This record gives sequence, C-alpha cells and structure tokens, in this order.
Amino acid sequence: MNAIRKNGPLAELLTVLHRESDEEILGKARSLFRGNDEEFSKIVKEYGTLAPQEKGKFLKTHGISIQDPSFSLCVSPEMGEFLFNLVLSSKSERILELGSSNGVSTLYFAEALRLLGRGEVVATESDEKKCRRILQNAATAGLSDVIELRQGDVFETVEGLSGWFDLVFIDIWADGYLGIFRKVAPLLKSGSIIVADNMWTAFEEVALFKEYLDERTDIVSTTLDFASGVEFGVVLDPERMA
Ligand SMILES: C[S@@+](CC[C@H](N)C(=O)[O-])C[C@H]1O[C@@H](n2cnc3c(N)ncnc32)[C@H](O)[C@@H]1O
Repeated sequence: MNAIRKNGPLAELLTVLHRESDEEILGKARSLFRGNDEEFSKIVKEYGTLAPQEKGKFLKTHGISIQDPSFSLCVSPEMGEFLFNLVLSSKSERILELGSSNGVSTLYFAEALRLLGRGEVVATESDEKKCRRILQNAATAGLSDVIELRQGDVFETVEGLSGWFDLVFIDIWADGYLGIFRKVAPLLKSGSIIVADNMWTAFEEVALFKEYLDERTDIVSTTLDFASGVEFGVVLDPERMA
C-alpha cells in the first residue's frame, strides 16, 4: 500500500485538495473558452497529451495564468510523491518551502518527516487566507508538529532565517525564482538539495534562474522532464572539488 494512504486523514485530505485545485483551473479555462462542452473536452484531452514543455504555451494561448493568486495551483500528486520520496531517501531534516499556497506540497514534506521521526518544514506564504488553510490542513492531517508557517513576503521571511537547510523547494511566482534563490543560497550547505517547480510551464520566466544555476560551479542541476518541469540540483562540497 502506498505509504501516504496509510495516513487515512492525510490521504483523504490530499484527494480533496488535488480535486479542488484541478476544478479551479478547469472552471476558469471553461469560462474563458468560447466553444461548446464537446470542444472543451477535446481541448482538455489535448492538454493531457502534451509534453511538459508545451503545457505552458498551451495555457497561455487559452488565457490561463499559472500565477493567479486566487488559485491553489498545488503540485500534482506525482510531484507530491516525488517530494515525499526525496525526503525519505535523502533523510532531509530541515526543509524550506518557498510558496506554500494551501499547503499541499507542505503536507507531502511533513508526512515524510513524520515517518522519519524528526525534522521540520518551514512553509512560507504571503496570502492570509491560504495561511489559514495551511494551518487547518496541517491539523486535519495530524502534521502540525512538523510544520512551521511563516506568513509574509518570502523575500522578507528568508532574511529572518538562519541555520542550514537540507532541501529547498522553490514554488513562488516564477519571475521571482532567481531573486529568491540568491537570498536562500547562503542557507544551503554541501549536499543540500534544490528543487524548483514549473521549469517547463514557466519556461521564459525562469530562464535567468536556470542560466544562473548552470553557471554556478558549486551546483549540479538538471531539469527533470516530468510534471511541470522540475529542477533538481545538489550543492557540491567546494573542498572536494578543488
Ligand atoms: C504555485 S503556488 C504554490 C503551491 C504549493 N507549493 C503547493 O503545492 O500547494 C505559489 C504560491 O506562492 C505564493 N507566493 C508567490 N510569491 C510570493 C512571495 N513573494 N512571498 C510569499 N508567497 C508568495 C503565492 O501566494 C502562491 O500561493
């Protein structure tokens, strides 16, 4: 049995949260689409068959913004399980999540930490309503103990953080990736993992961030071709590289 399903309240909650997020996007897409229901289902099916690199362009063509503040825009279930497995396999203890929305990715991280029996995820979000949902969702899933929520602009939040993080997950509005990464980099150590979502769906907005990662000689990073395009990097030990 899938480990996440063993935590019954969490599994039920995630099903609801993923469905809610899909319905928000589909509802908006339907309201913008001028054709009939049959034509709309064809478009939805077409979207499902597109390569991740094409999805961003497709959404833009149909007027859908992946930066709509009223939406949850949570990670997909497959991305959530990737994050969950990543924490379990790397035994990360301190996780920094940049852009938590209603806390879906936060829950995947938190459940992995609960299974490991230690650690915390620092969740960051500026939207007050979404912050209330994070706290509510954490309580429903019995994961409040491993989630520390910092409400506010993440650029300010990060300035108040200290100590090392084993994993940073970047999922704010894509044009802020480079700026926030520069601020977070001093909190990463050799072996720290860098994950960023939407590398394909926001290809143009993240271009400078990607270029910056590629230029850093102390980071090895690659874009994984699944979900929305996932940047996956590791900080190297400068002494071993000498
Ligand atoms: C793509 S959603 C995050 C989804 C979330 N990781 C999940 O899987 O449920 C992006 C979120 O980042 C938040 N955000 C964007 N820019 C921010 C900033 N500068 N400071 C704090 N939050 C920000 C938005 O309010 C939004 O809720």
